[in-house]
Amino acid sequence: MRNSRLAMAMIASGSVLASAAAASAANLNLICSADVVICELLVETFEKEHDIDVSMVRLSSGEAYAKVRAEARNPKTDIWWGGTGDPHLQAAADGLTMAYQSPMLSELLPWAVKQAESAEYKTVGVYSGALGWGYNKDLLESKGIEPPKCWADLLDPALKGEIQVAHPSSSGTAYTALATLVQLMGEDEAFDYLKKLNENVSQYTKSGSAPVKSAARGENGVGIVFMHDAVAQAVEGFPIEVVAPCEGTGYEIGSMSIVDKARNVEEAKTWYDWVLKPQVQSLLKEAKSFQIPSNASAAVPEEAPSLDEVKLIDYDFATYGSSERRRELLERWDREIGAIAN
Ligand code: F6P
Repeated sequence: MRNSRLAMAMIASGSVLASAAAASAANLNLICSADVVICELLVETFEKEHDIDVSMVRLSSGEAYAKVRAEARNPKTDIWWGGTGDPHLQAAADGLTMAYQSPMLSELLPWAVKQAESAEYKTVGVYSGALGWGYNKDLLESKGIEPPKCWADLLDPALKGEIQVAHPSSSGTAYTALATLVQLMGEDEAFDYLKKLNENVSQYTKSGSAPVKSAARGENGVGIVFMHDAVAQAVEGFPIEVVAPCEGTGYEIGSMSIVDKARNVEEAKTWYDWVLKPQVQSLLKEAKSFQIPSNASAAVPEEAPSLDEVKLIDYDFATYGSSERRRELLERWDREIGAIAN
């Protein structure tokens, strides 16, 4: 990012010295799978503190996995930060990412370290957050619709056309929802549920947080998203109420991985160690990103939904992040839900 700005300055000034500086700056190719605001703030802060020029692309978790996979023979990406842990675990199991034990590991909370250990250090936890939804209270009230508090309530025929959720192949949020329902209900029951839910879904979006952003603007009544993404809309002043489903729910361990055979490994490690620091993780809060950071000393945003107050399932990351299980569930979703989706 910085190089392109520098190049423009060079053209304007004809400066040879600037040309040498631009040529010597190291590079880092980053995929960022969290909200673009936090992605941009991290890149900007990193570039200020390092002589490394970051080229960042924002992709949803499933899309990021597909890109890393497609580039396996000739990686163009060095590091993948953020996004749900399942596709990071799948990438690790597929040998697409590299083992790295950061000196920062000892500062991380147990769930983040466990994520690293379970993937032989080919990924690590950077934040966490629980799945739920946000509903537009003004919109539901004006239509006389009872606010949904439980997964079962989302099947209320009054909610026809009012629900949005992302597509589980592109979005880590939506895959977490799929895997959560399978773990809560059993696989066949979950697919029966999803077929009924489809009656109420107006759109399967590409990005995970889009459904609650459009609910905030009154385009639909309910967005199934991570609770922290619903909180972000409420904090912006939109009439969004945040729900932790009464039957229980799943959660994410947002993760980070260095790509196997990355061209800029040293720069990737520099980013990796840096982004695990408490003062850097505290930037989440500044960007109105309300996940729980993985460094034990990072500031937890007071708006972050506390996992202790949510009925969490014992989400089986090893199984649902495995290549076989993820592929199987996504294929079944395409066959049974994608095929009948509006
Ligand atoms: O940044 C918001 C966020 O919900 C993260 O917590 C999560 O890892 C990511 O977005 C998931 O995005 P997507 O569903 O588009 O893959």
